[in-house]
Amino acid sequence: MSHTHAQPVQTIDQRTLRDAFGAFPSGVVAVAASVKGQLTGIAASSFTSVSIEPALVSFSISTTSSTWPLLREADRLGISVLADHHDAVCRQLAGPREERFGGLPFRVTENGAVLLDEAVATYDCSIHDEVVAGDHVIVLLEVHGVGAGGGEHPLVFHRSAFAKLHRDDLDPSRLDGRINGAEVDRGDDATADARPDAEDAA
Ligand SMILES: Cc1cc2nc3c(=O)[nH]c(=O)nc-3n(C[C@H](O)[C@H](O)[C@H](O)COP(=O)(O)O)c2cc1C
Repeated sequence: MSHTHAQPVQTIDQRTLRDAFGAFPSGVVAVAASVKGQLTGIAASSFTSVSIEPALVSFSISTTSSTWPLLREADRLGISVLADHHDAVCRQLAGPREERFGGLPFRVTENGAVLLDEAVATYDCSIHDEVVAGDHVIVLLEVHGVGAGGGEHPLVFHRSAFAKLHRDDLDPSRLDGRINGAEVDRGDDATADARPDAEDAA
């Protein structure tokens, strides 16, 4: 295998590493809760699905975050998958703490999870585990409930900018039942290593 363009790890400068990370597209979620009566949250592009049984998702938060020490005190955390018209909402949720929820349409569940209106999907979560990983903490969340906020298409974050999905020139057939090339019996118990996102990919 040729690695002509690869750089040895020790010589990678932070800019190059950030650019490489940015080549991988993701969605963006709001991670938010009402904690001791205070609306608290951030925008996070590090969200990912982890496990079907038990239902787990994760995101990573900077160890320097001033919000996480408060947010982690919440009984329940709301995860809202931002829709493609939520670009300004995303900037707001990543901005000054006292202005993050001003004018935003959202609801607070009885357990204190904050869920955005018009999200593409919502998750009602509690913290399952936290794993320190370098300058971030990987937060594993147990999913207690999922819903849809009414949004149809997700906001995409790629190379430090927002984008929308367009896939009209791609094979539209779903990957259901062909995960890792093997037939999957959708009636069986799901296993933790069956990638839920692959199952749902269209
Ligand atoms: C598109 C986008 C994605 C982000 N993703 C993350 C993330 O995954 N993890 C993280 O710690 N911060 C992320 N941030 C930054 C946070 O939203 C927020 O600005 C930061 O946590 C603010 O600092 P505080 O935690 O001290 O309030 C992201 C910001 C933007 C605009």
